[in-house]
Amino acid sequence: MFRRDFITSAATLAAGFSLGGRTLFGGVNVKGANDRIVLALVGCGGRGLSTIINCCKINKNVVIKTVCDVNTTKLAKAAREVEKNFKKRPETTTDMRTIFADKEVDAVWVATPEHWHALASIWAIQAGKDVYVEKNPTVNIWEGRKLVEAAQKHNRIVQVGFQNRSAPYGFTARDYIKSGKLGQIVTVKCYNLLDGGKFTEAPSRPVPKWLGDEGWDRWLGPAPARPYSPSIAVENGRGGWGNYWAYSGGGLADDASHVVDLARLVIGDPAHPKSVYCWGGNKVFGGKRETPEFQSIIYDFGDFSLSCDNACATGYMTKTPGKVRQDKRLFPTWRNNSTRTEIYGTKGLMFLGRHGGGWQVLGPKNEIVAEDGGVMPDREHQLNFIESLRTRKAPNGEVEQCHRSATLIHLGNIAYRVGNKHLLFDGKAEHFTNNEDANVLARGTYRKGYEIPEKV
Ligand SMILES: NC(=O)c1ccc[n+]([C@@H]2O[C@H](COP(=O)([O-])OP(=O)(O)OC[C@H]3O[C@@H](n4cnc5c(N)ncnc54)[C@H](O)[C@@H]3O)[C@@H](O)[C@H]2O)c1
Repeated sequence: MFRRDFITSAATLAAGFSLGGRTLFGGVNVKGANDRIVLALVGCGGRGLSTIINCCKINKNVVIKTVCDVNTTKLAKAAREVEKNFKKRPETTTDMRTIFADKEVDAVWVATPEHWHALASIWAIQAGKDVYVEKNPTVNIWEGRKLVEAAQKHNRIVQVGFQNRSAPYGFTARDYIKSGKLGQIVTVKCYNLLDGGKFTEAPSRPVPKWLGDEGWDRWLGPAPARPYSPSIAVENGRGGWGNYWAYSGGGLADDASHVVDLARLVIGDPAHPKSVYCWGGNKVFGGKRETPEFQSIIYDFGDFSLSCDNACATGYMTKTPGKVRQDKRLFPTWRNNSTRTEIYGTKGLMFLGRHGGGWQVLGPKNEIVAEDGGVMPDREHQLNFIESLRTRKAPNGEVEQCHRSATLIHLGNIAYRVGNKHLLFDGKAEHFTNNEDANVLARGTYRKGYEIPEKV
């Protein structure tokens, strides 16, 4: 089976391998400011394609050599788009291993559904590639730790697609809080209050042509084998994989993760919480979705609490409008902003937007005492990734902190999945101390041939 062969050969190569004077492994792969950087994309959905193209437009001498997707319709579209933008048709493949084996590729952009993020990234790292991996970077806590270990061991740059980590307004919010002007933090409240509807799984069908012979098996990858259903993956658009635990952490991982991650950043990236409680359920639409419609989660950080309310049945709330996201001078209407964070200090209340919207601090008379505007920080994040590849300095979305943010998502989901429980967490060991079922979920399971190894 290739998968094992691939890992063995990658491990052998990782011991030290030199190509044309350029050492690929062991962290000496430093690119000068003018050296060409070769990227490849795994997962040609809306997100991966648009961000990698933009990254090559705003950075000098960065090219896309190969695009990969198991969906042949999206793959063909991706090749056309890249050619249209850069006047050169990229190579195409339905098998990501082709990319990992290609010595010309410097960095891999992983934008598959979440269940592939960690494994594809680890394979890429083992093959000596740097990685940009979309959020949520993992589907369980254990594989997050393995991803961190892999990046450290092979000395690779990993930028997680938590782009708010590159937002200048996030840094000024962090500085404001660090300066003590907000006082001591009492509690942090994160919101992700979106719209949604009833989910019902469509009956299974034969694998469609656009997935090719092996496409569905490869789409499933580390997830359990099951027949194809159009409720999970579709020819065009995203499909409903976010409704299943096997492929994602639901709305909490998909959208709330950005809010929680930025909240962690501005309060100084605290270590793991001591405990988590979640109440959640499917009380509005019902239906067959596994990932819940609503979750209210509270984390105990010892000196303060952090909560997250995640819902897909509150469509009257509003995401930060596009106009505000693009104009540093504008701020959202905070009270109906669906993706805001409220940071309650002893001296004031900070409202913070994600994907732009900036921050404002309210004083005791409802007056604004401080503020900074901010726009959607995709551009900054993509510039920062390429800068990291050239300087070998840790990127803004470095993997340890992003693993910690992702862990908050997993903690909330695990507390829900074991029956809306209060779970005690030993952050050092990344282990629950009062619930073994929770530890099983924290470790996850992998289909044979797609396992993440203990030793990465
Ligand atoms: N950072 C952000 O703001 C942001 C925004 C949107 C999406 N995302 C994330 O980006 C990722 C992609 O999102 P999307 O909306 O483009 O989803 P999508 O489902 O449209 O795209 C994922 C693509 O991966 C492909 N794929 C699945 N298995 C594969 C495999 N083994 N090899 C190659 N390709 C494979 C699918 O066929 C699909 O085309 C998700 O994790 C999502 O959460 C991040």
